[in-house]
Amino acid sequence: MSSFYRDLKKAELHLHLEGSLEASTIHEMHPNISKEEVAAKYAEKGFSAFLESYKWVSVLLETPDHYALATRRLLGQLQTENVEYVELTLSVGVILWKQQNVAAIFDAVNKEARKSAIPCFWIFDFIRHFDLDHAMRVAELAAERARDGVVGFGCGGDEARGSALTFVPAFQLAQRAGLRLAPHAGETSNAQSVWDALEVGADRIGHGIRAVEDPALLRRLRQDGIPLEVCISSNVATGAVEHLLCHPLRRIADAGVSVILNTDDPAMFGTTLSEEYERAEQLGFSRDELRLLAETSFQFGFNKQVGSPQ
Ligand code: ADE
Ligand code: ZN
Repeated sequence: MSSFYRDLKKAELHLHLEGSLEASTIHEMHPNISKEEVAAKYAEKGFSAFLESYKWVSVLLETPDHYALATRRLLGQLQTENVEYVELTLSVGVILWKQQNVAAIFDAVNKEARKSAIPCFWIFDFIRHFDLDHAMRVAELAAERARDGVVGFGCGGDEARGSALTFVPAFQLAQRAGLRLAPHAGETSNAQSVWDALEVGADRIGHGIRAVEDPALLRRLRQDGIPLEVCISSNVATGAVEHLLCHPLRRIADAGVSVILNTDDPAMFGTTLSEEYERAEQLGFSRDELRLLAETSFQFGFNKQVGSPQ
């Protein structure tokens, strides 16, 4: 790969800690699990298979030390790529489902974040498959840590299993605590899912690529300055888009909607942020446009004290 992509100073805003676990780190945590076994799990295609693999890898994080190691490895890797600001999503919904101690895990990962040279903040994420009580519990935990590194609140999982509107009280609780909202929407479902995310007060949209199907929605995103966190390799691997060259990134950007490039689950999708910039070039972005994308990625960070270093 050309060093152009790596040398760009970049912000990464949509990255799940659990999806960053490399086979070597898993093998280090669980010597009985071979790197080949991990590679086979990660190679499975399609969105349902991806969610199963995500659950599988999340279950391997058994202790606060495992979470700390995952964070340390990830931040070390991001440094080699000139990532100069990061917001990591922690699947707190999954931690609750595993009946683990959220406070102990967050203390462990946040300690690693503070040691890093990269400004690193957190987004707590609930799972749409569960009910409102579950989402409320995640929102309460996020609110408790609002002055301790948590800057955002979101949701993941299968959009087909529930509209963001089901969870309005949880989003409101997070907002009242000063958190910003970044739900997944319009990834595998449809444009309506993005409208619903806007209605609950989304400040950024995770994926949002289905917006391309609705000109009125594209206008609304542009007018309100709501950016889409686009994850090209993820969309190809999960089948959210059929093929790289069918990806709607170019059309969305041409409609004047702000976009940010991200990796989503980099180890699972075998990508890096630098490679995502390369993918965007394959979709027709010039090097000047890529420089601009990298510069503006900082502007959408939820921690406003941290601006672009460029
Ligand atoms: N959790 C982690 N990655 C996700 C994705 N791409 N979509 C929904 N939930 C997720
Ligand atoms: Zn995601």
